[in-house]
Amino acid sequence: MLKQLFSPFLLLPIFFLYLITTTSAQSPALAPVALPAGPPSIVAILQKKTGFNTFIRLLKSTHVDDQITSQLLSSNQGMTIFAPADNTFSSLASGLLNSLNDQQKVELMQFHILPNYLPLSQFQTVSNPLRTQAGNGPRFPLNVTVNGNSINITTAIVNASLLGTIYTDRQLAVYQVDQVLLPYDIFGPPAPAEAPAPSKPKKKALPPPSDDTTATVRSSDAASLIYQAVNAWKAMAQEYNQLSQTSSSLFEHPDFQSQFQTAIYS
Ligand SMILES: *[C@@H]1O[C@H](CO)[C@@H](O)[C@H](O)[C@H]1NC(C)=O
Ligand SMILES: *[C@@H]1O[C@H](CO)[C@@H](O)[C@H](O)[C@H]1NC(C)=O
Ligand SMILES: *[C@@H]1O[C@H](CO)[C@@H](O)[C@H](O)[C@H]1NC(C)=O
Repeated sequence: MLKQLFSPFLLLPIFFLYLITTTSAQSPALAPVALPAGPPSIVAILQKKTGFNTFIRLLKSTHVDDQITSQLLSSNQGMTIFAPADNTFSSLASGLLNSLNDQQKVELMQFHILPNYLPLSQFQTVSNPLRTQAGNGPRFPLNVTVNGNSINITTAIVNASLLGTIYTDRQLAVYQVDQVLLPYDIFGPPAPAEAPAPSKPKKKALPPPSDDTTATVRSSDAASLIYQAVNAWKAMAQEYNQLSQTSSSLFEHPDFQSQFQTAIYS
């Protein structure tokens, strides 16, 4: 009878019970179990939030999600990601996304990423323009302005607002933005060096086919449509004798902005 009681079948549950009670009794005193924690997954973070399917799809198809992971592993600067929700993509002109080539899609995704961790408290003091993963300099302006609780971002093509924090730890910050951050490099006019001569541009004037890469990058339908809008505006501005002004003031002109809006949004 006693022998039966100590049979392995009976001892086993008792042993587990012992394990459970001792472990749980000890655990408050112990440090949290240090599993080899990888960097947080941006895809998992956004999937949990829901409503970011397009952004997730683009991050995956461009493999920028993997870049984020490996950079979080290799750098101690952390990262900041501006995530636009699905409705912001659907308010873009139809076909705009599809008109981008693979390289431009990578650039678009990388433009939503800063190669450093930027907590909300630091937006106020950060100096413009911010460096993005896609690049910096005049082709990649990304400026932030802070006023009280409101934080805005301008890319020279779109003005966006920060809607809130989706995720933050000490190395990764993910913020929701209310617009797709369209980079000037793709959606702005070509670099000044290759701007057409200031003769009266003909209708549908496009840059001459050349061996420079920007012309190739710009071959997409939507990009040329926008380029045409720019040209049309330049012609208009010329008539009003405004070409002597800096190009940046041209871009700030409401007529130009409205042409851009018409070209970019449906
Ligand atoms: C941000 O943009 C909104 C809407 O365009 C505007 O009302 C607000 O004043 C802007 N805030 C800042 C800090 O620029
Ligand atoms: C961004 O800020 C820099 C520095 O203040 C300024 O020179 C530039 O014109 C700004 N660009 C945009 C698009 O606001
Ligand atoms: C962005 O904001 C600036 C400054 O408020 C304004 O001049 C410009 O027209 C806006 N651009 C767009 C695309 O809304």
